[in-house]
Amino acid sequence: MKNSSPYYTRTAQMLHWIMAIIFIAAWLIGFYSGNFLSYDVDGSFKGQVISLHKNIATTIIFLVVIRLFWRYTHPAPQLPDSMSATMKVLAHLGHLALYLMLLALPITGCLFSWSAGHPAPVLYLFEIPRLVQDNPELLAIVKPVHIYLSWFAGFLVIGHLAAALKHHFIDKDNVLKSMTRQK
Ligand code: HEM
Repeated sequence: MKNSSPYYTRTAQMLHWIMAIIFIAAWLIGFYSGNFLSYDVDGSFKGQVISLHKNIATTIIFLVVIRLFWRYTHPAPQLPDSMSATMKVLAHLGHLALYLMLLALPITGCLFSWSAGHPAPVLYLFEIPRLVQDNPELLAIVKPVHIYLSWFAGFLVIGHLAAALKHHFIDKDNVLKSMTRQK
C-alpha cells in the first residue's frame, strides 16, 4: 500500500509529536536521576524523580501499540526523489531503530523495575500488572540493557532531529512539513 499524499495523516502527526515530547521528557528525567542523583545524598527526592520517569515513560507502551497499528494501516509519504537510494535506506533503518527503541525502552524499564522489586506505574493512576517478581539475576541483565539502550536512543533522536533540520533548511524539501502540515 503506497501513500499518494505528501503529508502524514493528522492522527500520525499527533502521535508523533505527543510521543516525541513524552520520550524526550522521560529521557531527560531518567538521565538526570541516573547520573546526577544518588540515594545517599538526595534520598527520597531521587525516589520521586524515578517515579516521575516511570509514570511518564510507561504511557509509551500504550501509545506505541496505537502508533504501529496506524503506521501499518496508513503508509508514510514517499521520501523525496532528490534523496539517493543509500540515504533512503539509511532513513528507513533509522526510523525502524526508533520504533524498536519505543518498544525496547519501556519493556526493559518495566523489567528493570519489577526485577528490582518496584512497580511500573502509569500516570500516577494505576500500575502495569507485574510480569516478573524480584529477580537479581534478571536485574543484572535488564538494568545495563535499559541504560545502554537509552544512550543509543539519545544518539538516534539527535540524528533524527539533525536530519529533519537538514531536509528543511539545507535541502529545502517537504520532509519536515510532511509531519507538521496538511497542505
Ligand atoms: C520511553 C521510555 C524510556 C526512556 C526514553 C528511558 C530513558 C532512561 C534514561 C535516559 C535513564 C538513565 C540512564 C543512565 O543512567 O544514564 C533511565 C533510567 C531508568 N529508567 Fe528509564 N526510560 C524509559 C522507560 C522506563 C520505564 C517504563 C521504566 C519503569 C517502569 C524505567 C525505569 C528506569 C529506572 C528505574 C532507571 C534508573 C534511574 C536511576 O538509577 O536513577 N524507564 N531511563
